[in-house]
Parts: sequence; C-alpha cells; structure tokens
Amino acid sequence: MSRPTKILGIETSCDETAICLIEVDENGKSLKILGNTVHSQINEHIPYGGVFPMLAKREHEKNLPIVLEKTLKEAGAKSSDVDLIALTVGPGLEPALWAGITFARDLAEKWNLPIVPCNHMEGHILTSLIKKKGEIYEFIRPPLPSLSLLISGGHTQIVLVEDIGKYKIVGETRDDAIGECFDKVARTLGLEYPGGPKISKLAAEARRENISSPEPLPRPMISSKDLNFSFSGLKTAVLYLTRKIGTLDEKTIKGIAREVEDSVTEVVVSKMRKAIEQYAVESLIIGGGVIANKHIREHLEKLAVDCSVPLFLPQFDHATDNGLMIALAGYVNKKKAVNFDAPLKASGTLPIDEYR
Ligand code: KG4
Ligand code: ZN
Repeated sequence: MSRPTKILGIETSCDETAICLIEVDENGKSLKILGNTVHSQINEHIPYGGVFPMLAKREHEKNLPIVLEKTLKEAGAKSSDVDLIALTVGPGLEPALWAGITFARDLAEKWNLPIVPCNHMEGHILTSLIKKKGEIYEFIRPPLPSLSLLISGGHTQIVLVEDIGKYKIVGETRDDAIGECFDKVARTLGLEYPGGPKISKLAAEARRENISSPEPLPRPMISSKDLNFSFSGLKTAVLYLTRKIGTLDEKTIKGIAREVEDSVTEVVVSKMRKAIEQYAVESLIIGGGVIANKHIREHLEKLAVDCSVPLFLPQFDHATDNGLMIALAGYVNKKKAVNFDAPLKASGTLPIDEYR
C-alpha cells in the first residue's frame, strides 16, 4: 500500500536560498505545501549591481541550515518524516549550486535519505502545473503536446513539451535573457538590482499616467522567421538613448520602462504566436521569474484566448525561484533518486532537453 510522500526541495541556483516541504497524496493527484521558505540575498548583491557568484555561495552556506529549520518548523515536521530530498543541480551559478549539493548530501547521509537531482528549468514548468483548491494543490496534466515559454534571469527559451520529462528546445535567446535585459536596463536607468520588478512597477505607472518614451526602442528579431530571441540590442538601445538625453527625470525613466516592457512583450507574444502556428500544440505553459510581470502575463493570456489553447501560469508568488518547484521536480523524477555518495555535479548550463 502506498502512502503520502514527503519531499524536501532545495534550491540554490542563484540568489534565493529556498527550501520547501511538500506532501504528495498516495494517488499522486494532489499535494500540500507543508513548509515553504525563500530567503532572498538581494540586499547582499545590491552593491555589485547583480548576483556575485562567490558571495551567493557563502550566503547559501550560511542560510541553508536556518532556512531548513524554519521550513521544518512551519511544517511541524521532523527529519524522520521526510522521504526524499530534491535538489537543483543546474542550470545556474555553479558555486551557488555546489552549496546546495554539499548541504543536501550531508543531510541525506545524516537522515539516511535518497537525493533526486533536478533541473531548475523543469521545476519552473512544473510550478505552472498545480492548481490551488482550498488547502491543497491539484496536479494538472496539461493537454499535450504543449509549448512552454521559460523566461527568467538566466534563460529565455521556447520548449516543446511532448510529455512531462520529454522536452525539446525550439527557440532561445542568442544573448541576454529577458530578466537579464530588465536588470541591465534598470541599472542604466539608475534603478537597483533586481530591475525586473522595478521596471514592471514604473511601466504600470507610465501607462496609468499616459507617459511614453521620448523615442521608440527596437523590437529585436520580431520579424525573423525562427523562434529565437536577442535582447542585448534592446539593452544597448536604452544605453544610447539615455546618453543622448543626459539627465534622466522621473517621467523619462517611466516612459523608457514602459517602452522596454512593451518591446519585450510584443517580441514574446509574436514568437509564441509563430511557435503555435508551427507546432500543433494543445496547450501553453509559462514559467520563470519574469512571468511575475503582469503586463506580459496579460498579453500571453490574450494570445491563448486568440489561439484557443489553454494556458498554464504559475501562481504569482511561485513565479520567481523557490523550493516548491524543486520538490515538484523531485516528485516527478523520484525514480532517479541516488545515494548521498553518488557523484553529483553542479552544471551551470544543464540543458532541459539533455537532462533525461
Ligand atoms: O526565475 P528567476 O527567479 O531566477 C532565475 O532562474 O533566473 O527569475 C529572476 C528574474 C530576474 O531577472 C528578475 O528581474 C525577473 O525575474 N523578474 C521580473 C519581475 N519579477 C522578477 N521581471 C519583470 N517583471 C517582474 N515583475
Ligand atoms: Zn529560475
């Protein structure tokens, strides 16, 4: 007789130290989030204008035991309740990933538990495939094949999902990821790291106050026939525009933020429309920190309605990195569990389509 499975998800691929304990019911149909802690290192990285990998590693090492204790306390659980440890092994910043690997290994040895090595990007996909129903979350089986758009600080990819676990990248950025573009543009505009949420807020204000950019910005690769992206030109265009303007007042900053958000949204929607035309897909799954952006979200919702395909999005507070996404990936991949002494390796560039 099977019984509920408790999975501890550990995420340290970037600047969030995150641990989540979930309990999946015995039929694998629903789950409960028992404890969920995300400790952001943003304040530590602000002076560097971005994430500084060795500092991230040190902060993870310092915070992991605290985050674990907090999560177990919230869950009212003890070590002997946990069945499985799920861990991000890539992609991400390698020093940061190693902090998670070392911690998870020690824990697995001490608690005598197996570890499931997980792909961070698969975690982002899976986070969009649960739906809150009262106290529990139901697992959603999306109509397949599906197209997944993954937009984060490190990635911008369109992934063909033939099945859960069967992925093929059909388009991706040639240079900067969308989140990275937001963060770099924000820096040019004199806004603090991470820029995504700040651009998002200022762009919304610009829309409300009817403020536009002093000049239009490019929509990079919007007319190219392929499904690839490029965002470094947009970042550079903002740099040249701000140099031309000189001193930036609040109104100009808001106008530029709005134009950047519009550019990114139009490019993403146009590429996804092309992808839907090219692949006969039955659904869309969106994941990654940038989908916390309301404007992009609304336009993808419109696209899905236009194209009559169901759309799966993460809950707003599950869009950016968290331990839940890794606990879910651990559940889906539980057959790949290994012992604490298995040769786990951090992979900064672990591709979603080569992992399995
Ligand atoms: O998935 P995530 O938490 O970390 C990575 O896997 O990279 O994504 C972080 C990215 C950052 O670049 C951040 O600026 C961006 O997501 N982001 C946003 C918003 N919230 C976070 N970008 C645009 N609008 C937002 N509201
Ligand atoms: Zn992420």
